[in-house]
Amino acid sequence: MNLSLRILSVLIWAGAVAAAPAARAGAPDGAAIYKQKCSMCHGVDGKGFSAIHTPDFTDPKVQASMTDKQMEEVIKNGKKGTAMPAFGGKLKDDEIQAVIKYLRSLNSEKKK
Ligand code: HEC
Repeated sequence: MNLSLRILSVLIWAGAVAAAPAARAGAPDGAAIYKQKCSMCHGVDGKGFSAIHTPDFTDPKVQASMTDKQMEEVIKNGKKGTAMPAFGGKLKDDEIQAVIKYLRSLNSEKKK
């Protein structure tokens, strides 16, 4: 490889490295949103608190009992008659999708 080609490939590599975090900066971080807005009621580990009847998101049965659409509804509109608040005005659609993805990642079945 001659010198100019080598410099060119280093520049391309540097460009790719610099571009990667920039692309990610726009995407909401489901884990961070969860920690900030949900973990006080659902537990940092997602296992919930029996005292306030929050579900155990690590339980595959709990996960299987809800579709993504149902999760989205509850997160947007809250759950009547429970302490689950509505986040429709506080979280953007892509943030809600990111937090659902994070909730799904807590499923213990996925960690095997
Ligand atoms: C003030 C406490 C509180 C906060 C904050 C909270 N939740 Fe909840 N959440 C609850 C409670 C209580 C329930 C259980 C309701 C019930 O009895 O079915 C619940 C239930 C849920 C359910 C399951 C609904 C179902 O049908 O079983 C999902 C999904 C959920 N919460 C997601 C979230 C997400 C995501 C956040 C953060 C953006 C969040 N919650 C923040 C209290 C909270």
